[in-house]
Amino acid sequence: MSLTEQEKQLIEKSIERVADVAGDPASHVYARLFEQQPEMEALFVLDTDGKARGHMLSEALDCVFDYLGPRAYAPVLIQSEMTNHDGFGIPPRVFATFFNVVMETFRDLLGDEGTSETDAAWATLLGEFDATIAEHAAKSGTAVV
Ligand code: HEM
Repeated sequence: MSLTEQEKQLIEKSIERVADVAGDPASHVYARLFEQQPEMEALFVLDTDGKARGHMLSEALDCVFDYLGPRAYAPVLIQSEMTNHDGFGIPPRVFATFFNVVMETFRDLLGDEGTSETDAAWATLLGEFDATIAEHAAKSGTAVV
Protein backbone atom coordinates (compact mmCIF):
# COMPACT_ATOMS: atom_id res chain seq x y z
CA MET A 1 0.00 0.00 0.00
CA SER A 2 1.41 3.38 -0.82
CA LEU A 3 1.59 6.28 1.58
CA THR A 4 -1.44 8.53 1.96
CA GLU A 5 -1.13 12.30 2.32
CA GLN A 6 -2.05 11.96 5.97
CA GLU A 7 0.67 9.37 6.55
CA LYS A 8 3.23 11.59 4.84
CA GLN A 9 2.28 14.46 7.14
CA LEU A 10 2.51 12.25 10.23
CA ILE A 11 6.05 11.20 9.31
CA GLU A 12 7.15 14.78 8.55
CA LYS A 13 5.63 15.99 11.79
CA SER A 14 7.37 13.26 13.81
CA ILE A 15 10.77 14.22 12.38
CA GLU A 16 10.14 17.90 13.11
CA ARG A 17 8.99 17.15 16.67
CA VAL A 18 12.13 15.10 17.35
CA ALA A 19 14.20 18.20 16.56
CA ASP A 20 11.98 20.23 18.92
CA VAL A 21 12.13 17.82 21.85
CA ALA A 22 15.60 16.32 21.48
CA GLY A 23 17.62 18.76 19.33
CA ASP A 24 20.14 16.88 17.21
CA PRO A 25 19.17 13.21 17.42
CA ALA A 26 22.44 11.90 15.89
CA SER A 27 24.02 10.59 19.12
CA HIS A 28 20.85 8.60 19.92
CA VAL A 29 20.56 7.18 16.40
CA TYR A 30 24.18 6.00 16.25
CA ALA A 31 24.13 4.64 19.82
CA ARG A 32 21.21 2.44 18.78
CA LEU A 33 22.82 1.51 15.48
CA PHE A 34 26.04 0.39 17.18
CA GLU A 35 24.06 -1.54 19.79
CA GLN A 36 22.31 -3.46 17.01
CA GLN A 37 25.25 -3.68 14.58
CA PRO A 38 28.39 -3.44 16.78
CA GLU A 39 30.71 -4.28 13.90
CA MET A 40 29.67 -1.04 12.15
CA GLU A 41 31.22 1.23 14.80
CA ALA A 42 34.76 0.54 13.61
CA LEU A 43 33.86 1.84 10.15
CA PHE A 44 33.43 5.32 11.64
CA VAL A 45 36.83 5.32 13.34
CA LEU A 46 38.08 8.20 11.20
CA ASP A 47 35.00 10.27 12.01
CA THR A 48 36.50 11.60 15.25
CA ASP A 49 34.29 14.70 15.45
CA GLY A 50 31.04 12.99 14.40
CA LYS A 51 30.65 15.21 11.32
CA ALA A 52 30.34 12.32 8.84
CA ARG A 53 27.76 10.63 11.10
CA GLY A 54 25.80 13.87 11.38
CA HIS A 55 26.00 14.47 7.64
CA MET A 56 24.91 10.93 6.84
CA LEU A 57 21.86 11.23 9.12
CA SER A 58 20.89 14.60 7.68
CA GLU A 59 21.19 13.22 4.12
CA ALA A 60 19.07 10.22 5.10
CA LEU A 61 16.39 12.52 6.58
CA ASP A 62 16.50 14.84 3.54
CA CYS A 63 15.99 11.69 1.50
CA VAL A 64 12.87 10.89 3.56
CA PHE A 65 11.52 14.44 3.04
CA ASP A 66 12.18 14.23 -0.69
CA TYR A 67 10.47 10.83 -0.85
CA LEU A 68 7.42 12.21 0.95
CA GLY A 69 7.41 15.35 -1.21
CA PRO A 70 8.66 15.92 -4.75
CA ARG A 71 10.39 12.52 -4.95
CA ALA A 72 13.00 14.13 -7.17
CA TYR A 73 15.97 12.00 -6.13
CA ALA A 74 15.25 9.73 -3.13
CA PRO A 75 15.07 6.33 -4.89
CA VAL A 76 18.20 7.14 -6.93
CA LEU A 77 20.08 8.34 -3.83
CA ILE A 78 19.23 5.14 -1.97
CA GLN A 79 20.52 3.07 -4.87
CA SER A 80 23.72 5.05 -5.36
CA GLU A 81 24.45 5.09 -1.61
CA MET A 82 23.96 1.32 -1.52
CA THR A 83 26.73 1.00 -4.08
CA ASN A 84 28.97 3.51 -2.22
CA HIS A 85 28.30 1.78 1.09
CA ASP A 86 29.08 -1.61 -0.36
CA GLY A 87 32.50 -0.11 -1.04
CA PHE A 88 32.76 0.91 2.67
CA GLY A 89 32.01 -2.71 3.65
CA ILE A 90 28.31 -2.24 4.42
CA PRO A 91 26.21 -4.91 2.71
CA PRO A 92 22.62 -4.17 1.57
CA ARG A 93 21.30 -6.26 4.49
CA VAL A 94 22.87 -3.80 6.95
CA PHE A 95 22.22 -0.69 4.86
CA ALA A 96 18.52 -1.52 4.99
CA THR A 97 18.55 -1.40 8.80
CA PHE A 98 19.48 2.29 9.05
CA PHE A 99 16.05 3.76 8.39
CA ASN A 100 14.57 1.28 10.84
CA VAL A 101 17.04 2.40 13.51
CA VAL A 102 16.05 6.02 12.81
CA MET A 103 12.36 5.14 13.18
CA GLU A 104 12.91 3.24 16.47
CA THR A 105 15.05 6.05 17.90
CA PHE A 106 12.50 8.70 16.98
CA ARG A 107 9.68 6.64 18.46
CA ASP A 108 11.62 6.44 21.74
CA LEU A 109 12.49 10.14 21.76
CA LEU A 110 8.86 11.10 21.17
CA GLY A 111 7.64 8.82 23.94
CA ASP A 112 4.02 9.50 24.82
CA GLU A 113 3.61 11.83 21.86
CA GLY A 114 3.83 8.88 19.50
CA THR A 115 0.64 7.37 18.13
CA SER A 116 -0.21 4.10 16.45
CA GLU A 117 -1.05 6.09 13.29
CA THR A 118 2.46 7.53 13.19
CA ASP A 119 3.97 4.06 13.77
CA ALA A 120 1.86 2.65 10.94
CA ALA A 121 2.91 5.48 8.60
CA TRP A 122 6.59 4.82 9.31
CA ALA A 123 6.04 1.08 8.76
CA THR A 124 4.58 1.80 5.31
CA LEU A 125 7.50 4.10 4.46
CA LEU A 126 10.07 1.52 5.58
CA GLY A 127 8.30 -1.15 3.54
CA GLU A 128 8.63 1.03 0.44
CA PHE A 129 12.33 1.71 1.14
CA ASP A 130 12.92 -2.01 1.68
CA ALA A 131 11.38 -2.71 -1.71
CA THR A 132 13.70 -0.15 -3.37
CA ILE A 133 16.69 -1.68 -1.57
CA ALA A 134 15.70 -5.27 -2.45
CA GLU A 135 15.17 -4.33 -6.09
CA HIS A 136 18.59 -2.70 -6.34
CA ALA A 137 20.28 -5.56 -4.47
CA ALA A 138 18.70 -8.06 -6.86
CA LYS A 139 19.91 -6.06 -9.87
CA SER A 140 23.44 -5.96 -8.54
CA GLY A 141 23.35 -9.63 -7.58
CA THR A 142 23.57 -9.17 -3.78
CA ALA A 143 21.23 -10.63 -1.20
CA VAL A 144 19.43 -8.40 1.33
CA VAL A 145 18.78 -11.10 3.89
C1 HEM B 1 23.41 0.73 8.83
C2 HEM B 1 23.48 1.39 7.69
C3 HEM B 1 24.62 2.32 7.35
C4 HEM B 1 25.91 2.33 7.79
C5 HEM B 1 26.59 1.36 8.76
C6 HEM B 1 26.58 3.43 7.16
C7 HEM B 1 27.90 3.76 7.31
C8 HEM B 1 28.56 4.81 6.71
C9 HEM B 1 29.98 5.07 6.79
C10 HEM B 1 31.00 4.17 7.51
C11 HEM B 1 30.23 6.20 6.12
C12 HEM B 1 31.59 6.87 5.91
C13 HEM B 1 31.85 7.81 7.06
C14 HEM B 1 33.19 8.48 6.92
O1 HEM B 1 33.46 9.09 5.88
O2 HEM B 1 33.97 8.37 7.88
C15 HEM B 1 28.95 6.69 5.58
C16 HEM B 1 28.81 7.84 4.86
C17 HEM B 1 27.62 8.26 4.33
N1 HEM B 1 26.41 7.61 4.38
FE1 HEM B 1 26.03 5.90 5.39
N2 HEM B 1 25.67 4.11 6.36
C18 HEM B 1 24.47 3.45 6.44
C19 HEM B 1 23.31 3.82 5.80
C20 HEM B 1 23.13 4.97 5.05
C21 HEM B 1 21.87 5.38 4.46
C22 HEM B 1 20.56 4.59 4.56
C23 HEM B 1 22.11 6.57 3.82
C24 HEM B 1 21.15 7.43 3.04
C25 HEM B 1 20.46 7.04 2.02
C26 HEM B 1 23.50 6.91 4.02
C27 HEM B 1 24.13 8.04 3.52
C28 HEM B 1 25.47 8.36 3.69
C29 HEM B 1 26.11 9.56 3.19
C30 HEM B 1 25.42 10.67 2.38
C31 HEM B 1 27.46 9.50 3.59
C32 HEM B 1 28.56 10.54 3.35
C33 HEM B 1 28.67 11.35 4.65
C34 HEM B 1 29.91 12.24 4.69
O3 HEM B 1 30.98 11.78 4.30
O4 HEM B 1 29.80 13.37 5.13
N3 HEM B 1 24.10 5.91 4.77
N4 HEM B 1 27.97 5.81 5.96
